[in-house]
Amino acid sequence: MKKIKTAIFLSGEGTNFKSIYDTCLEKNCPFEIEIVISDRRCKGYDLSKSLNKKTYIFENCEKITFEKKTNMVLKQNQIDLICLAGFMKILSEDFVKKWNKKILNIHPSILPLFPGLNTYKKVIQYGMKIHGSTVHIVNSKVDSGPIIAQSAITIDDLDNEISIEKKLKKSEHYLYPIAIKKYVIKTFFKNNKNSLKIEKNKYSNIIYSI
Ligand code: GRF
Repeated sequence: MKKIKTAIFLSGEGTNFKSIYDTCLEKNCPFEIEIVISDRRCKGYDLSKSLNKKTYIFENCEKITFEKKTNMVLKQNQIDLICLAGFMKILSEDFVKKWNKKILNIHPSILPLFPGLNTYKKVIQYGMKIHGSTVHIVNSKVDSGPIIAQSAITIDDLDNEISIEKKLKKSEHYLYPIAIKKYVIKTFFKNNKNSLKIEKNKYSNIIYSI
């Protein structure tokens, strides 16, 4: 089976990248990480290098230059799908159009609630008792494309931004790889739905809809 060549874009810690990387080591994973692109020197960039992934950094450049360089390496490496994993640049409409329905993102809220930055802060300000993450297709509006999968966690009175982030990331590390698998199978392997195995009970305090 041909594996779908994926590019990861990141700007931060890279913990979601690592969970996707681990999933790709599974024998029947329908996609593989071909390259990693970063727009800055960050932990995720260092991690990718240490895992011997083909890693590119295009830093301190205007969006137009970043996207030009990026498009070149995406083409060179025959990339099929882009997964944003903590990538902090907003991609241009042209770029998103060119990669129509081939860019996925994970956002730390149950969209359409709390698009944009500082979701943990907002969740606390509103006194939310439930929070979560969303994997969606990227379209030209920020954090608003079609939803692929969501997860939810509970928040209690003792939680703060740090503890919420920790819980949420743990759920993301499960959610994002499965959501990518689901999307890849649906989009690229329409007739081979059997390969999607969902281990629903891995983390008992998290609920998912995939
Ligand atoms: C995640 O919480 C994700 O939802 C958001 O950025 C964060 C990236 O974390 N888009 P990491 O770099 O994968 O640790």
